[in-house]
Amino acid sequence: MIVTGKTRVCGVIGDPIEHTLSPIIHNAAFEALNLDYVFLAFKVKSAWVEAAVNGMRALNLRGLNVTMPHKSAVMNYLDRIDLSAQIVNSVNTILNKENLLFGFNTDGIGALKALKENGVELKGRKILLLGAGGAARAIAYTLAKEADELAVLNRTVKQAEGLAKLLEKSLSKKVVAGSLKPSDIQRNLQDSDILVNATSVGMSPNAEESPVPPKLLRSNLAVMDIVYNPVETKLAQDAKAAGAKVVSGVDMLIHQGAASFEIWTGKSAPIEVMRKVALKHLQKV
Ligand code: ATR
Repeated sequence: MIVTGKTRVCGVIGDPIEHTLSPIIHNAAFEALNLDYVFLAFKVKSAWVEAAVNGMRALNLRGLNVTMPHKSAVMNYLDRIDLSAQIVNSVNTILNKENLLFGFNTDGIGALKALKENGVELKGRKILLLGAGGAARAIAYTLAKEADELAVLNRTVKQAEGLAKLLEKSLSKKVVAGSLKPSDIQRNLQDSDILVNATSVGMSPNAEESPVPPKLLRSNLAVMDIVYNPVETKLAQDAKAAGAKVVSGVDMLIHQGAASFEIWTGKSAPIEVMRKVALKHLQKV
């Protein structure tokens, strides 16, 4: 890669940021398409979020991904925010177009594309979503638009109830809320077709954990875990052993990254290049 005076700069802001895969994925994608772009990671403390976002204009950065803990805070400093990002109160992608800053959230579309790529149909189906954090909210909103029914279970039940209310109001669909207790999971899972884990349970270094007791999993389920480190989570292993269809967190990571890439470059993302480089890196860590 040759960086010149004309190279367009994108990046990711967050704190911590050291373990992000975004630079690896996006630089590989830019290179594969021979685009004169470069992608960097910036560790930005919460007190500097406003300065960092305004810095996009000052330094003429083309785009930023936003990760923990700034996905809501950045919204205060943008010019326009996409409706779905507004509804879920979370922005993970910023585009700088002639000094106007546009906010998007690509987590929902990433989850939807990962499911569809794996042949999981949503129409007429019931989804059980675990989690009610930033990623879960965006995923819930996008998937609830397509599916028939949704249940949201979260460790902090209040959060799940808040999300259910928000979705009911914005989509006019019935959304059930509950806790992550095995009895709640069992009750809601028995008539669900798709299970999505959007909690961080099972993420390295707690890779031996799963949010779902293995005996509740069955073959006529599709299971997607948004955790991608480890590449195959305990939940994914248990789901596979039960004969369920498994959609990996890497697929979701790649598709949400691809959607950001397309917003910044206007080009179709090289999905396979991105997946290959992400997997190669994840298998090393
Ligand atoms: P993200 O941007 O990845 O969604 P987040 O907004 O911090 O991150 O959300 C993390 C999610 O994982 C939340 O649903 C959180 O549950 P709470 O709302 O109760 O905090 C869930 N989570 C994190 N650690 C958990 C644990 N040990 N057990 C169960 N749920 C957990």
